Amino acid sequence: MSGAEWATNVLGAVGGAAVGALALGAVVCRLNRNIADWVFARIWLSMSDEVDKSLKVYKRELFSSGLTGHVLEVGSGTGVNLKHYTDPQLGKDIESLTMLEPNERLYEKLEEGVNEASGTARFPIHTINDFFPSDAVATQQYDAIVFVLVLCSVKDLRETLHEAYRLLKPGGKLIFLEHVCPPRVSLKYLAALMISPLWTSYGDGCKLTRQTEEAIVEFDWHETEIERFTKAVPHHGLSLEWLANNIIMGQATK
Ligand SMILES: C[S@@+](CC[C@H](N)C(=O)[O-])C[C@H]1O[C@@H](n2cnc3c(N)ncnc32)[C@H](O)[C@@H]1O
Repeated sequence: MSGAEWATNVLGAVGGAAVGALALGAVVCRLNRNIADWVFARIWLSMSDEVDKSLKVYKRELFSSGLTGHVLEVGSGTGVNLKHYTDPQLGKDIESLTMLEPNERLYEKLEEGVNEASGTARFPIHTINDFFPSDAVATQQYDAIVFVLVLCSVKDLRETLHEAYRLLKPGGKLIFLEHVCPPRVSLKYLAALMISPLWTSYGDGCKLTRQTEEAIVEFDWHETEIERFTKAVPHHGLSLEWLANNIIMGQATK
């Protein structure tokens, strides 16, 4: 066997083993919720600050109007948005904040942040370790319900939006910043379809091709304001984030 043939065989074997291991890991995550939560928490704990930084300008705009009264944030993760709510300008009209997060391993970090922020916040902050829709908030009414990078992961998008709509007071706002399905006729859409089985398994059920805007506008909103943009990604697009950089951001008023 020549050196080149030997190298090709070794590369083929290593590549095959890596793909096999990834596929096996994906199956394990699908079968065991606890392991899937652990894997996703490891991933999100390592990248949530970076993702937050890359959305800083947009979040400033997102949170600059509509944060009034009683606010519910669904899927708070590690609590990266706390700083916006407790910002003396952005959060000046908030009366209470409830943060819902089902993943226990992220919830620990969220609680740490909330304990710290509670010392200086002018309003009470509650945390709830549960999925939305949740009995713990089912009888409240909110002035604003916030979703940031969450609607891609919820099990049932329409049920989630239906419950959010129900919990909003008349005049209340759904505030969202979400990655959505890339244009149907694009290389990115094809790539998203191909990688989806692995992405969804390791990424807490996140769907790259979810039609979130279409689902939001189905409700009987008094007014909607939606911006669409493509977020810059590191390494000139050679990053997996490229698959999730078609973003919608805005608010829908009941
Ligand atoms: C990609 S992370 C985003 C976290 C945070 N919003 C941020 O911007 O950093 C998605 C979060 O949604 C949470 N999540 C998924 N399904 C949920 C549900 N049905 N109810 C509440 N949170 C949910 C996950 O546990 C995870 O923390």
